[in-house]
Amino acid sequence: AVVEHTFNVGNLSISRLCQPDRIITAVNGQLPGPTIQATEGDTVVVHLVNESPYSMTIHWHGIFQRGSQWADGPAMITQCPVRAGGNYTYRFNVTGQEGTLWWHAHISFLRATVYGALVILPRGGYPFPKPDKEEIVMLGEWWNANVVDLQQMAFLTGFPARQADAYTINGKPGDLYNCSATNQTHRFEVRQNETYLLRIINAALNTPLFFKVANHSFTVVAVDACYTTPYKTDVVVIAPGQTVDALMVADAAVGRYYMAASPYDSGVPAGPPFSMTVATAVLGYVGARNTTPALPRLPEFRDTDTAHRFLSNLTALVLPGKRTVPLAVDTRMFVTVGMGVADCLPEQALCNRSSTVFASSMNNASFVPPKNTSILQAHYNNMTSGVYTRDFPDRPPVVFDYTSDASDNATMQYTTKSTRVKTLRYNETVEMVLQNTRLIAKESHPMHLHGFNFFVLAQSFGNYDATTAAPQFNLVNPQERNTIAVPTGGWAVIRFVADNPGIWYMHCHFEAHLDLGLGMVFEVQDGPTPDTSVPSPPGDLPLCG
Ligand code: C2O
Repeated sequence: AVVEHTFNVGNLSISRLCQPDRIITAVNGQLPGPTIQATEGDTVVVHLVNESPYSMTIHWHGIFQRGSQWADGPAMITQCPVRAGGNYTYRFNVTGQEGTLWWHAHISFLRATVYGALVILPRGGYPFPKPDKEEIVMLGEWWNANVVDLQQMAFLTGFPARQADAYTINGKPGDLYNCSATNQTHRFEVRQNETYLLRIINAALNTPLFFKVANHSFTVVAVDACYTTPYKTDVVVIAPGQTVDALMVADAAVGRYYMAASPYDSGVPAGPPFSMTVATAVLGYVGARNTTPALPRLPEFRDTDTAHRFLSNLTALVLPGKRTVPLAVDTRMFVTVGMGVADCLPEQALCNRSSTVFASSMNNASFVPPKNTSILQAHYNNMTSGVYTRDFPDRPPVVFDYTSDASDNATMQYTTKSTRVKTLRYNETVEMVLQNTRLIAKESHPMHLHGFNFFVLAQSFGNYDATTAAPQFNLVNPQERNTIAVPTGGWAVIRFVADNPGIWYMHCHFEAHLDLGLGMVFEVQDGPTPDTSVPSPPGDLPLCG
């Protein structure tokens, strides 16, 4: 079947946090935007009509885009943006994947308000008891300021953008914020003893979140649209970009309960003032009296133990016919991920030219998207000169003590801005060690790979050591994901098969870090046949300039 939507992106006037009539960019006048619901094997067609004042692209987060590489969406990576007043039709199949994914703008900071759920239902049944009802729980952030101005200011000054003014559940901050009680609190209605499938998505720009429901617990059954071994927990931990499908039985007394999301701050040492506020929604039982809901006891905001326990204990549900971990590795990469500094670009008008500005990097390469064409167009037309170079390094330029405070010095922090890609042969197996650093700040970076799911073989703290880590790899039922929260001051090992030709962005899903260059690009070469090659671009693909 074909699932067709029209996305009119434009200004929406909205009141939040005692601020009447804020103008935001939204799809079809909704925040969150419309949910796309498809069934595995369907074709999704979305007509983007850009009535906003900004250039726009939409990314379908977690969709493989096999044979539809042009529809992936990151600006200047796979397409030029759709200009204000322009339009473009995204067309792709949702084949071989099912579960909870989402879509969001992939340009400037516009995904702060341009986002929505993308649910792919299975063609058969679920590998768990059928829930009575399903609910989308989209966690996000709210800024009182215009987010495009925030991004511009961050770029011009080379200083990371400040934190959000509130966290949100389905676009609303909830009762615990000022001026936020009645129509700015999302309400879920449940019936006692029914089972709910919560499709939880973290659409926040910069904040990993804890999520709890007072007096209720969860059974996690999937993450990033990959089924997991059922995992019982009373807290969900979710980094920007990730999704968690959790079953929740309404088995408490008839009453009203808060669902709540609060920040997990993995930064060491503590960064700029962090908002420790809590977003809430109300879970109300049918027949409950209108009493004040109970608040769940949330983890302390630096509770790395709770975050790590949840994130590292998940394993895949091994189903018949499911793909298994490739055991032979063709390319091994060791990639440092973290903060640093770089020389100002000439366009960064407000940065202090005599010194350096903040820059994020992978293996000391701080990624700068090209200006005049997208990487995919340059790749497809074989006109890469002046657009990108094929020299993304497999190792960091120097080996150092990545996670010790002592290594945090000006020399180690220095990175170079560049547009470097890693070229992969069709079908080769890649293993990547993602090593977080302690340069400027230790943090848990949520690293997202476009075009693929990867297996997470291991993750832990400190400096990666192959001799002790490799024997502990889970090669039997490792979790599969498209976004891995690399432990703060630690590492993760991922493996994937490059069986999807095209240009695939890999980056930190903290928008503030992506903007500072925390990304790189895989260029996967064509395979031997037309259906293993990048197809011709659609006739209406927007052009730059
Ligand atoms: Cu959800 Cu490149 O991002």
